[in-house]
Amino acid sequence: MHEWISRRFFIAGLSVLGLGAPELFGKPAISTVPQIRPGAVWADTAGKPINAHGGGMLFHDGTYYWYGEIKQGKTYLPKVNASWGGTRVDVVGVSCYSSTDLLHWENRGNVLPAVTNDPKSDLDPKKVLERPKVVYNAKTKKFVLWFHSDSVNYAAARCGVAVSDTPTGPFKYLGNFRPNVGQWPVDVTDADKADAQSQLVKDFPVGQMARDLTVFVDDDAKAYLVAASEGNPTLQISELSDDYLKTTGKYIRVFKGRSMEAPTVFKRNGKYYMINSGCTAWEPNAARSAVADSIWGPWTELGNPCQGDKADITFQSQSTYVLPVAGKPDTFIFMADRWNKDNLSDSRYIWLPITFTPDGKPEIRWQDQWSLQ
Ligand code: GAL
Repeated sequence: MHEWISRRFFIAGLSVLGLGAPELFGKPAISTVPQIRPGAVWADTAGKPINAHGGGMLFHDGTYYWYGEIKQGKTYLPKVNASWGGTRVDVVGVSCYSSTDLLHWENRGNVLPAVTNDPKSDLDPKKVLERPKVVYNAKTKKFVLWFHSDSVNYAAARCGVAVSDTPTGPFKYLGNFRPNVGQWPVDVTDADKADAQSQLVKDFPVGQMARDLTVFVDDDAKAYLVAASEGNPTLQISELSDDYLKTTGKYIRVFKGRSMEAPTVFKRNGKYYMINSGCTAWEPNAARSAVADSIWGPWTELGNPCQGDKADITFQSQSTYVLPVAGKPDTFIFMADRWNKDNLSDSRYIWLPITFTPDGKPEIRWQDQWSLQ
């Protein structure tokens, strides 16, 4: 049994726009600054809870777009085989919300709906569509959506790609695939190649696994896929083609055997950072952070960035994206999901500011509410 199976199966929002009410001279004073309230129900501009889980952000032409998994309906335990013990809801599609202030979010609809009339489709409701991330390709002027595309028992471990002319879609689904078919990672050793039992070698002819993933675009417009691979113990970073639609075959393996999931990548002062989770399905675990001078590594782990009460379970959440706030130098928001595995549609969003120690280690502290101002 793969390590990801044993780990997954044997471990079995920010807010509504609220008004802060600090006590002033014994009387509640109403703050006029809208607050971010991690873990509270967060309503969109139509008053409905935002439904964008495992999400990612795109900032384009002055607007933020928040894409995420639409979790809808009753959570159930699929009976697909003896080893699968995870809960799920059927795939509905990818939501998109837009905002100019990161507080007021307008629902722009389902930009990649599930396909309900073809059980063979990768977008069939009984499949898996997770962690959608959208990037803009300035050369092709296309918006490219990457996501974790899988079978109901998570055995397929593939990346799905869709493309659109506008950020609000509809996105055209191009297909799913395993990255880097027949390619060795740039850091491969002879011993790696000779290890016939390793997942790396087993997947060499069919392509490397890709489950939890993110896509990162660097300042030079080069883009990279970061995905939990080899059954989940190892992350792989793959270079994307100039149109961002494929992997080029150039990739490395990082944090070997550390079972990192829910990857996030960001850049600060010329250094590359990741904040990821461990691998415990919907249950929260301690986040990990890491830094590198190049996306190709070497990556140095910096430990759990979370500080204080419940830091050991990332304040009961799992990373999904780190957003550099436009126009606010050195301002980064850690975005995470507080999964409710028994009612996945009521999973909440945990957004918290990231601060940095003088030597550049990221830190995240809980706040009941906070404002970007
Ligand atoms: C988590 C993963 C989620 C989802 C979940 C299913 O480990 O980060 O995206 O796949 O497992 O159990």
